[in-house]
Amino acid sequence: MTLSFGAAASTYDTAARPQRLAASRLVAEAWHSISAACGVDGVVRPDGVIDFGCGTGLVATAWLEQLQAQGQPLPRQLLLVDQAPEMVERAVERLRAWQCPQQGMVVDAFADAAVEALVPLLAPEASHPRLVLSSYALQWSAAPLEVLKTVWGRLLRPGEWLAVAVPDDRSFAVLRAALAEADLPSHLLALPASDALIGAAARSTLADGFAWVDGGCFANGVPVASALDYLRHFTRIGARSGRSRYSRGQLTRLCRCLDQQLSAGAAELDYHSTWMVLRRLSPSQVPG
Ligand SMILES: C[S@@+](CC[C@H](N)C(=O)[O-])C[C@H]1O[C@@H](n2cnc3c(N)ncnc32)[C@H](O)[C@@H]1O
Repeated sequence: MTLSFGAAASTYDTAARPQRLAASRLVAEAWHSISAACGVDGVVRPDGVIDFGCGTGLVATAWLEQLQAQGQPLPRQLLLVDQAPEMVERAVERLRAWQCPQQGMVVDAFADAAVEALVPLLAPEASHPRLVLSSYALQWSAAPLEVLKTVWGRLLRPGEWLAVAVPDDRSFAVLRAALAEADLPSHLLALPASDALIGAAARSTLADGFAWVDGGCFANGVPVASALDYLRHFTRIGARSGRSRYSRGQLTRLCRCLDQQLSAGAAELDYHSTWMVLRRLSPSQVPG
């Protein structure tokens, strides 16, 4: 798979049904964890939010909707970060209606450059706790746990929150079966296994920077009408460039096999996700 997110900014929202489901589930889980901690030992709700790999702003919007539904004040600061300028533009436009102070930032969210760009923008007072949210972006990093530890974690102070959701390697089994049936190579992005994100070894890797709060998996597939419908999803969300790497004949074969797979089982664009909620540790809390 190759990236073409900028070019897909205008088609993303109509095609991103699984992403919308993932964003709303991530927000529900983050809300649950944060609400359980608020009021205990003086913990207050975060009012500075950074959305990494914001795309068109689905997860930031879901967070604001949650706050509104719960009668809570909107954040004092909302930072929308993506490497595709067209996506940032779209997210800023979408969030404008909310009238909470927001800013878009075009930067590689997986690199030190993100810390350098964002630190000067962040409200310095500890009384304004921060939340890093990210849905469906971290799978584009070859080292997602390293990004959490060495980039996103550096923007959080002790006790502050991080909530991420990532599509995992149980996704697209239907397409992989069709590719095998059609005897074609897969160009799908290698998605991380759930265990590699939230299993014991992953938690231990994260333990020198974060306290584990909660995590889990969910299915967020959506119905599709046909093989074409299934395949077009990837172009419309920008996860694939316009030109196919398959010949016309190969594509016809793939569509036939995929249609067979879809009619034999659930006719679904089969997404599965892994999520986690973490809190930043202070240096004195890091296990010896
Ligand atoms: C599938 S979209 C998800 C967008 C949004 N978070 C959502 O839930 O709908 C992935 C987004 O991650 C962005 N992205 C991928 N790699 C990135 C990187 N290294 N830095 C910043 N953004 C990145 C892409 O540009 C794209 O907008």
